[in-house]
Amino acid sequence: MKTKPVKIGPNTLCPCGSQKKYKNCCRNKKMEISIKEEYKRKYDILLKEPHQIQSIKKCGELLISILNNVEKMIKPGLKTEAINTFVHEEIIKAGAIPAPLNYRGFPKSVCVSVNEVICHGIPGERILNDGDIVNVDITPILDGYYADASKTFFVGSPTKEGQKIVSVAAESLKRGIQAVAPGATLGDIGYAIQSYAEACGCSVVREFVGHGVGIDFHEQPQILHFGTKRKGVTLVPGMVFTIEPMINIGKRDLHVLEDRWTAVTNDGALSAQFEQTILVTENGWESLTPFEL
Ligand code: MF3
Ligand code: CO
Ligand code: CO
Repeated sequence: MKTKPVKIGPNTLCPCGSQKKYKNCCRNKKMEISIKEEYKRKYDILLKEPHQIQSIKKCGELLISILNNVEKMIKPGLKTEAINTFVHEEIIKAGAIPAPLNYRGFPKSVCVSVNEVICHGIPGERILNDGDIVNVDITPILDGYYADASKTFFVGSPTKEGQKIVSVAAESLKRGIQAVAPGATLGDIGYAIQSYAEACGCSVVREFVGHGVGIDFHEQPQILHFGTKRKGVTLVPGMVFTIEPMINIGKRDLHVLEDRWTAVTNDGALSAQFEQTILVTENGWESLTPFEL
C-alpha cells in the first residue's frame, strides 16, 4: 500500500517528538537535525532532544537521592543484600524500575562491589567490615528513561590504601568530566583519566567502559577510560553518556568469578569507581546525576 508522505508545515507537531510546533522547534535547527542523523548513521549514537534530557535528569535526581540515603546506611556489619533491598524498594516506591534486575541475567537490582571487586558485584551474604570500601551502582528507569551513577563509600574508618584509591578514582572521574566539551573527543576523556591515574601509581581497568545512556541502558558510544588526545569521535551537544573509571591500586588485570558477573582484581588489591551520567552542552557539560567529587 502506498502512503502519502506526511508534509511538515510550520504548525504541525515537530517530528523530533517534542510535542512542540515544528516552527518553534527543529525548523530553527536544521543543522542539528543533520548532525543527529549523521551521528546515528555513522556511530549509532542517539543525540537527545531537550524533552528527553529533562526525563533523564528527573531519573538522575531520583538516583542521587537514593544514593545519598544508601550512604547513610553504610556501616560495619551491614549485609550487601540490605543495600539491594533498600535500593529496590526506593526505586519501586518512586514508580521506577531497577534496570540491573534480570539485565542479561543479573539477579539483583543494584551492583555492590566491595574492596577487590572492580564492578558488577552481586549483593548477597557478604558483610561489610570496618575499613572496607564499597561501590554502589544504581540505574533506575523512570518514565522509560535511564540514568546511571555510582559512588564508592568508606565503611567505618578508612585505611590509608582505601583513602588513596577512593581519592584517585573520584579525581579521575572529575578530570574525565572536565575534558567534556563540544569539539573535544572521546580520546580526550580517556587521556585525562589515564594520565592522572597512572601518574598516581594506579592502573586503569580496560575491560569495562562507560557508555551512551538514556533511552537504553547501554547505548553507543563506548567511553574508554584510557586513550590518546584528539582521537576518537568528536563530542557534540545532545550526547549523553556515562564516565565511570575503575581504578586499581595494584595491577589492572582482572578475572570474572564463577557467577559470571563479579569482576575482581587478579592481585586481590583494592579497586574503586565513581560514575556519573554526563550531557554535552553548547558550552561544555552538565551532569544529569550530579554529586561533589
Ligand atoms: N551499572 C553498570 C554500568 O555502569 C552496569 C551494570 S549491568 C548489571 O554500566 F547487570 F550488572 F547490572
Ligand atoms: Co554505566
Ligand atoms: Co552504573
